[in-house]
Amino acid sequence: MKFQAKVAELLTHKSQCLVLPVVDGKKQPPATQTFDKACGNIVSRLLDSGDLKPRNGSTLLLTQQPGCSSERVLLIGVGNMDKAISSDNYAKLINSAALALSRTPAKNASVFFGDIKVANQEENWKARQLAKAFSNALYRFDDFKSSKSAKPTLKTVTYSVKQQKQVTETNKALKTGLATASGMSLAKTLGNLPGNVCTPAYLANQARKMARSEAKLSAKVLGQKQMQELGMGSFLSVAKGSDQEGKLIVLEYKGAKKSEAPFVLVGKGITFDTGGISLKPGAAMDEMKYDMCGAASVFGTLQSVVELQLPINLVVIVAAAENMPSGGASKPGDIVTSMSGKTIEILNTDAEGRLVLCDALTYAERFKPKAVIDVATLTGACVVALGAHATGLYSNDDKLANTLLQAGVAAQDKAWQMPLWDEYQSQLDSNFADMANIGGPKAGSVTAACFLARFTESYPWAHLDIAGTAWHSGANKGATGRPVSLLLEYLMQGA
Ligand code: BES
Ligand code: MN
Ligand code: ZN
Repeated sequence: MKFQAKVAELLTHKSQCLVLPVVDGKKQPPATQTFDKACGNIVSRLLDSGDLKPRNGSTLLLTQQPGCSSERVLLIGVGNMDKAISSDNYAKLINSAALALSRTPAKNASVFFGDIKVANQEENWKARQLAKAFSNALYRFDDFKSSKSAKPTLKTVTYSVKQQKQVTETNKALKTGLATASGMSLAKTLGNLPGNVCTPAYLANQARKMARSEAKLSAKVLGQKQMQELGMGSFLSVAKGSDQEGKLIVLEYKGAKKSEAPFVLVGKGITFDTGGISLKPGAAMDEMKYDMCGAASVFGTLQSVVELQLPINLVVIVAAAENMPSGGASKPGDIVTSMSGKTIEILNTDAEGRLVLCDALTYAERFKPKAVIDVATLTGACVVALGAHATGLYSNDDKLANTLLQAGVAAQDKAWQMPLWDEYQSQLDSNFADMANIGGPKAGSVTAACFLARFTESYPWAHLDIAGTAWHSGANKGATGRPVSLLLEYLMQGA
C-alpha cells in the first residue's frame, strides 16, 4: 500500500473513493459541506431520512454522484465534535473507514479528514494512525488455506492536507504509520504460524533472513552447546524436554555511533507451551502457539526500526524454546542454576517463560544497555487482572515506566503499570534453592515480574506482560501485533 499527502480539490480531483466525515451536529465540516452542496444536499437529506447515522464509526457508501468526479463517496460518522473527539474515537472511526473501504473495489482512495479535531493530537498523529489502521485492515493470514482470500484491491491512499507546507511532514507521518503496520504484520504472521512450523529453528532463520537484507543488522544464534558454556541452566531446563533445540537469538542493529548505549528488547519465544510435566488442560491449548508473541513483537519492532532507519542502536534477544513433556523434561522439584549463579527450584514446569527469560536478561548485561524491555505472554493472571485492553507494565525505573505508559497512549497500544514491591518477593521463597519459579495463587502476574526483577538489577528495566493483548481468541482468533506500536513509539522518542 502507498500513502501520499496532497493538497487535493475535493470535487474535481479523480479518486475511486472519497472518504468524508459526517458529524453529529447542526453544521457539517467544510469538506463535507462542499460535497453536500455540489451533490444536491445528499448528505443533509440522508441525515434527515435517518439512512445516514452520524454516530462514531458508522459508514455509508454512495456511488456515482453527479457533481463529484470521484466514483464513490464513503461517509464516516465522527459523532459529536463540538470541540474535539477523543483519540479512542478517532481510532474507532479510522478502523471502520478502513474496513468499509476494504469491502469496496476501489483501488485508490482520498481521505478528507483535515476538519476532524482530535483532543491533544496534531495533524501528523492523525495521518500516522490512519496509515497504520488502513494497512493493518488489509492484513490477511491465509498461508495454509487452499483457496486464498481475495487480494485487497486498495493500493493508494491520498491523505488530503489543507496547505502545501504540510505535505512533507504529513508524508513522514504516513511513512511512520506504514512502517508500524509492517512491523505489526510480521509480528502477527509469526504469531499466527502453527507450532509445527514456527519452531525455535524457524525463528533463528527469521533472524538470519532479516540480517541478510540489512547492512546495519547482524544476527547470532546460540544453540544448546553455547548456552551450556554460558551456564544457562535455567533456559536449558525448559528446552531439554523437546526434540527441538532451544535457541538464543541475538540481533544487533547499529543505527547510531558505536559508543552509544543500545536499547535492548528481549522476547519470550516459547513456540509452543504444553506446560511440560505440569501439563496444561486440553481446552484451547492450541492458543499456546501464541506463547512466542513476545518474540514476534520484538522481531516486528526491529523490522519497523529498520524500515525507518532510526538512528539508534538496538539489540533484540529472543529466548526461543518449546515447552514439552518427555522423558528428558524437567520435573517439579528440580533445581537448576541460572547464568547469574542464582539457583531456582522448579515447582511448576508451566512457569517456563521466566526460566528462559532470566538467562536472556543476564545475557543482556554484556551490551551495557541504556534500557532493557522484555516482552512476554507470561501469565494467565495478567489476563485476569487487565483483560485484553492493557498490557501489564512493571519496571525498576519510574522514568522508564512513565515513558512507556505515555508511548502506549500515543500509539493507541496502552499499558498499565502494576506494582513491583518488595512485599511480594517473599512469595518466591524456596526451602531448597535461592528462589522458587512460582509465587502461589495470589498476584501471579506480579510475582512473575518479581522473579525477573531479581535478574535485572544492573540496568533500567521494564517488563511487558502481553498475555492478554497479544492475540484474540474466539471467532476472530489471531495475533494482534501488539505491542509493536508502543515499542516503536518509545524507540522513536529515544532517537
Ligand atoms: N504462557 C503461559 C501464560 C499464559 C496463559 C498466557 C494463558 C496467556 C494465556 C505461561 O507460561 C504459564 O503457563 N503461566 C502459568 C504460570 C503459573 C504456573 C504460575 C499461568 O499463568 O498459569
Ligand atoms: Mn507455561
Ligand atoms: Zn508460557
